Amino acid sequence: MKFIIQGKKPLKGEIKVSGSKNAALKIFPVALLTREPIRVSNVPEIEDVLRAQEILIALGHEVKKIKNGVLEIRFRNQKGFDLPADLVNKFRASIMFVGPMLINLGKVSFPHPGGCVIGAGIRPIDLFLDAFKKMGAKVKIKDNHYELTAKKLKGANIFFSKISVTATESLMTTTCLVQGETILKNCAMEPEIVSLAEYLNGCGAKISGAGTPTIKIKGVKRLRGGKYKIIPDRIEAGTFAMLAAGSANVEVLIKNCDPAHLEALWQIFDKVGVNYVLSKDSIRILPSKKLLSCDITTHEYPGFATDLQSPYTVLMTQAHGSSLIHETIYDRRLLFADILTQMGANIILADPHRVVVNGPTKLYGRKLVSPDLRAGVALVMAALLAHGRTEIDNIYQIDRGYEKLDERLRGLGADIKRLA
Ligand code: EPZ
Repeated sequence: MKFIIQGKKPLKGEIKVSGSKNAALKIFPVALLTREPIRVSNVPEIEDVLRAQEILIALGHEVKKIKNGVLEIRFRNQKGFDLPADLVNKFRASIMFVGPMLINLGKVSFPHPGGCVIGAGIRPIDLFLDAFKKMGAKVKIKDNHYELTAKKLKGANIFFSKISVTATESLMTTTCLVQGETILKNCAMEPEIVSLAEYLNGCGAKISGAGTPTIKIKGVKRLRGGKYKIIPDRIEAGTFAMLAAGSANVEVLIKNCDPAHLEALWQIFDKVGVNYVLSKDSIRILPSKKLLSCDITTHEYPGFATDLQSPYTVLMTQAHGSSLIHETIYDRRLLFADILTQMGANIILADPHRVVVNGPTKLYGRKLVSPDLRAGVALVMAALLAHGRTEIDNIYQIDRGYEKLDERLRGLGADIKRLA
């Protein structure tokens, strides 16, 4: 499957932001922690969410589509303690199923989780394994396959040696049903974590401190079911804002989003000179006189999100001056810059964590392959800014995180086609 894009079309109109991929993926494993139904709304129709549903169904549970964007999940008879390898290999967040399986069965076996190849080698899971060990689990590892067993997990004080979003979410959710108190320190503070904690507390959990570096969880006997509305995808909103900001003669309204989750981006937009207007749930992008170069350093929330770094690197190819892009979270997330250079960008790779982008440069259409999710959408952005025709292959990577991207961009006047 590939996209064919003719660049340089003025973008005008409205585009809606979907529910957050990185919030939606976490509710499916959480469904294993209750025996009552969960109704989830604002669910993005993306490949990774389908894979998460397929894991639940493979484990014997029920996922019913009520209508577009609304699902009902029902716990049924759990089938075995193996997580399906072909699905776990497809996305990183599959690691979130480990904790609830350990709670329910006292045993779980799984291969190393897959997902975007954006870190050196495989993305580690040591923070999860160390925490489960601290709570009393036994961990066996053989050829990148893991088996965890635990008669009874117990509450513990856990200090994360690195700030990790899914490790924070995994231990915060699992310990809801672990007797005693657990204290998690050096936690991630992303809005998706706060939203998940609020949902769980609504179901009877006792979580405090979500959104701060220290989270306390008092174990309870059981969790109720409930209704969970997925928050808007701040990464999608930020990506659309940058895509529009880089285009000439633009007039785009980005709706159904929460600009308050993107403060780091607005600070940068002020320095770059982007012409934008924020409201409580929308972002309007208007033509900017001149885009100026501006350095960024990616950082855990509320800093500049690493998932917005790729589209920002493309935006800086259209800005006047040199920008230093410092990617601190992953050490292979700047390699896609080489593809931009093939399109005509002037980018110097200083080291695995730094590139210098010199602009403005004209970009020209090319035959490209999408290396991963965020680099993939950045290439779509570059193709929309480029002169001529671009072909982007391997768009499954983009469909993993963006719902019907081509349809929504056509709604803004973009010339983009999907070819089988
Ligand atoms: C989440 O990944 C997001 N994914 C990522 O988005 C996002 O880039 C990342 O957080 C950072 O914001 C989901 O929520 C599904 P981490 P996660 O654990 O939790 C290291 C996207 O494009 N680390 O916070 O997997 C790790 O190598 C994706 O939507 C360990 O060393 O990321 C990285 O350098 C990509 N050991 C750093 O921590 C561990 O056990 C942060 O990673 C775990 C992580």
